[in-house]
Parts: sequence; C-alpha cells; structure tokens
Amino acid sequence: MSRVFGNLLLLGCATAIAAAPARAHEKDPLAPTARWSANTDGGAATPPMGWNSWNAFFTDVDEEKVLASAKVIVDTGLAAKGYRYVNLDEGWWDHRRADGRMLVRADKFPSARTADGATSFRPFTDRLHAMGLKAGLYSDLGRNTCAQAYGPNEVNLPRGSVAEREVGLYGHIEQDIRLYFGEWGFDYIKIDGCGLRAYGADSALVTSGRYRELPPILNLETVSLADIPRVRALFGDVKDALKRYATQDYLLSLCIWGSANVRAWGKDVGNLSRTSDDITPDWGRMLTNFDSAARRALYAHPGSWNDPDMLFVGKGDFDEHHLVEARSHFALWAMINAPLLIGSDLRTTPPVLMDIFGNAALIAVNQDAAGNQAVPVFDTDDLQIFVKTLSTGEKAVALFNRSSRPIEAQLTAQHLRFRPDAVVRLTDLWDGRSSSFTGETVLKVAPRETLVFRAAGTRALADGVYLSETPGDVNPAVDGVTAPQADPTIHRALSPWGGGTRGAGPRPIYAGWGGAQPDATPYGRELQMAGRRYPQGLGVLAGSRLEVRNHDYARLTATVGVDDSAADGATPVRFEVYGDGRLLAATRPLRRGATPAQLAVDTRGTRIVELVARAANAVGERLPVSWGDVALRH
Ligand code: GLA
Repeated sequence: MSRVFGNLLLLGCATAIAAAPARAHEKDPLAPTARWSANTDGGAATPPMGWNSWNAFFTDVDEEKVLASAKVIVDTGLAAKGYRYVNLDEGWWDHRRADGRMLVRADKFPSARTADGATSFRPFTDRLHAMGLKAGLYSDLGRNTCAQAYGPNEVNLPRGSVAEREVGLYGHIEQDIRLYFGEWGFDYIKIDGCGLRAYGADSALVTSGRYRELPPILNLETVSLADIPRVRALFGDVKDALKRYATQDYLLSLCIWGSANVRAWGKDVGNLSRTSDDITPDWGRMLTNFDSAARRALYAHPGSWNDPDMLFVGKGDFDEHHLVEARSHFALWAMINAPLLIGSDLRTTPPVLMDIFGNAALIAVNQDAAGNQAVPVFDTDDLQIFVKTLSTGEKAVALFNRSSRPIEAQLTAQHLRFRPDAVVRLTDLWDGRSSSFTGETVLKVAPRETLVFRAAGTRALADGVYLSETPGDVNPAVDGVTAPQADPTIHRALSPWGGGTRGAGPRPIYAGWGGAQPDATPYGRELQMAGRRYPQGLGVLAGSRLEVRNHDYARLTATVGVDDSAADGATPVRFEVYGDGRLLAATRPLRRGATPAQLAVDTRGTRIVELVARAANAVGERLPVSWGDVALRH
C-alpha cells in the first residue's frame, strides 16, 4: 500500500514498517530508536545560574569568601532572579585518607571540622540550603587535578604523601560521589580532566616523583590522541553513581574543554559540557570561548548545554571601566544558553556590574523554556547577528560588533524569519525602549557593543517552524563525522597561559568542524542543491541521524538532496523519515546535482521524528547533505 509522491515513496501508517528492534541499532547506528537520546536527567531544564569561586579566588578560597558571596546573591535579589548554585571550585581539599575518604581543608572551611577528624561539608551545604541556594563542588576525573598540574605555586594544594594527594575521582568514583552527594548534600559537581591529560610517564610531574603516572587518555591539542570511549565511559560511571546517591535534580558539569570530540557525546551524558579552555578577562579570550560554543546550536538542548566557561564580568576587559564589553559578554552568554555563573568577588562588585547580572530581560532570554540556543543568521569576523526563538514565538536578536570601529548594521525581517511586509517591534533589552520597522532597519553598533532586543513580528512560515529555528528540539544523535577535525573558525587568542608570541601561536584545536548546522552546511556554506540556495534548513553529513521532538505538528516538509558543495558527486544518498521508529517516508537515491526530493510526511501522533541520510560506503565529510526548508507544520 505504498504510493509514490513526486520523488518520494510514502508508506501509509497502516503498512508502516514495525519499529526497528533494539539490536538492529547496535549494528546500524542509523537505525531509528524512537527516543530522544540527549541527556534529560538532572536539574538543568534551563541553563544553570549561580556563582563559582574560581575566577574570583582561584585556589585561594575559604568558607568566609564563599558564604559572603552567597549572602550577596540573596540580599541583592539575584537569588530571586534565578542565581541559585554556589559552586566551590578547586582549593577545598586537604588529602585522601588511607581508607579513601576525602578530607576537607578544615583550616579554610572551619565548619567542616569534626571531633573525629573525618571532616564534613554538611554544615556548609546546610547553610547554603537554608539560604535557599544549592551547593556545587569541584573534582577531577583523574587521580590528580588541574592546579596540581598547572599551578604548582597556587595555595591550598592537597597535602601529604603521593597517595594522599590523589584527590581526583579515578578509582574512587563510587566512594566520592556517595560522600559528596549522599553524605555531604551537594547538588552539583564540576568534573575536570587534567588528571587524564597531564600525568604521563615523561611529564615532570611524574619523573620528579611528586605524582603517580596515569597514561593520558585526553589530549587538548590533538583529538586523534584521545581515548574517546574510555573518557566517555568514565563520565558514564560518574553519572551512574549520581543516580544512586544524588537527588533527582543533580547537576553534572563536564569540564574537558572541547577535547575528545566531546561536542558529539557530552550532550548524551552531562548537563553542561565545556567547549573550550579557560576564559580569562581579555577580549580576545572571550571571543575564543564564545566562538567555541556559538556555532554548536544543534548540540545544546534542555538538560544538556554548551558551556563556554564562567562569566568574567568584573575583571580586566570586563570591569566597571569597560561596561560595553561587560554587557556584551553577558548578553552573548545569555543568547547562547550558556550557564550564567558569576565569577566575581561579590563582596566588592560595584552596583553597575551587579545591574548587568540582574538584567531580568536578558535572564528571561537565557532561561526561556524552549531551550533554543541562538543561531547565527549573519556571520563575519566583524559583525555577527544571532537569533534565538523564544517559547512565545517571539525572537531575541543580538547584533555583536567584534571589531574596533562603529558599524551600521542592517537588521532585516528575513534575519528574524518574519514577513518583510509586516511590522516588526523591537524592545531593547538593556533600556526597555521600543521601536519598530518594516522590511529592514539600520542600527549603529559601537565597537565591541552588543545590541540585544526582543522582536515580535509575523512569522514568515505561518503554519509551523523551520527546524533551524528550534535547535533545542533537534538532536544530531549521529552527525556523520568520521574523523573529528578542529574548527578553523574559532578565534585564536594569545595563550592565556604565557609564552607570549614565541613559537608559532595557537593552532585550531576544538573539534567540531563538520558538525550539523542550522541554515548552513557543516562547513559553514549556504545550503545549495541543484543550483538553488536554501536560506533555511539543516546541513549535515551523510551517514547521519537527527532526532526531532514533535510538538503535535501534523506534517514535516522539506526539500532534500546532496549539497552542491559535496566533494563526492558519485555516491547516492537515501533520505528517510521515521516517526516513533516507523518508516514514514524515503526518497529514491539522490546524487549531487540531482533534482532535490520534496518531502511531505504525515507526523500526526508522532512524538519523535528521525531524519536519516544514508549512503553506503561513503565518507561523510565528502558528502554534505541538505534538509532544505525542513519544517514541522500544522
Ligand atoms: C581547570 C578548569 C577551570 C578551573 C580550574 C581549577 O582549568 O577549566 O574552570 O576549574 O581547572 O584548577
């Protein structure tokens, strides 16, 4: 009972192929699973907000400093606005006891002192909980930590013998997670990866006898040197332990700085995944961190967010003398659904910066329930325009001037996916002023400024959404990347770790090039098939499977084919659409240059739609495909 519709083979629901058995999926990663595989465990339906001790104090942290900042968060009303995590970063541990129990540095955290010397953070977390806040803690997935490796002159490093200074989770996941969550009552854990990276046999840390060897399975510079399955499995062990000992709204933050191709799988394991090395209070470094997350919108969803690192508003290029930069930094983080983790010493933060943290309109954008990370709709190294689709159907739009000269920018209704013949109303999210335009408007953006608005208009697609507008509902479960490559578009700042301009400078290191993209090919080109451009759509490599949450839409429409930019002009690609595991439609095999196929698929009653692009024996990187204008519609 199948019928041919244009280029498309449609299977009526009655005759649809039964759900693929689970085992089929083990052999065929493109077999439908009928489920949303990105992580939804834990308490991160919207990006976490709060405060972290690191940028303010590094390892020179103590109880008084943390609780004083917590008090400011409550007293100034920031807590009521959503800032609720108070996270203790590195610097809290004393040593690991012979029986494996971790001990707190009680001279710095006096409330942790116990009569038997076992120490307990419970009074500390009780205090935070009583203030209506939540408590976060830091650890490392290896035996040793970042400050032990890279900050030998830092204060408060663990003390004692080699074994006593092994304070990381390695070999102690069960015991530590039980202690931190079950006994001490923490809600949040940030887990670093230095212990998996810095303690190789030939490192001075090991040859000096200070630390035990752990053969590196992470490499920040070279993704091919990482043991990705092993790293992933270790984080999986942490997550399993959290399920046993944490309350249901625990938060797991992966901190391996975009290494080990974590872009592709971190979203399946944790609630946050760092996309780059540490931020510093420098404009260039902020650009690096922003770029590392800003072109990964499809890899962030409610429950699993891209993390370009904590806010550095309050220092250096983002202090009270640089309000343009400070506001840009905050607005950009809000737009891309980054966690809003304040990193300044709140005891001394001036009111003008507190006002930035407290901007309720921007917080609302960041915390919007739809969870759509902003998508770049205009992208240059000078000016960028990002648009984020809100749950109301309105848009938030940011115009970001990265350059050192003022820029006159045209914002068009098309950027917003609104009709060009209807009025668009803008509300400035800094001063609340409103304005309107039809078609396009010209906006002056000062050097380093980010203009940011809420925009209401008439949707160009009246009866539904383009999937590139709703990245929070699209999960590249398999993105077709066969050999992860560093993304060359990420700003390369001078190294924050010294070295000046000696050597050749930092190379591109953050894998992600070739990942699925909204409104662009995996390599950042406009979508184009058989000579025609598609301003909207999803670009992905062949050998891919996208999971899409369907919110009661009746049909999926798209124009699909191999993108004109494909190097491989010979291999045919078959496009398949599944609904809750059942094949709803498939195209004939399409090669580069062929007339694209029109899809119009009945999705009524379907929860998860899966979009598969299948090509036998193809190298995905040579075969970008385009789901042009792909939309869910009423
Ligand atoms: C790494 C992390 C930082 C911070 C330090 C602590 O560098 O990326 O965010 O946690 O470790 O040593």
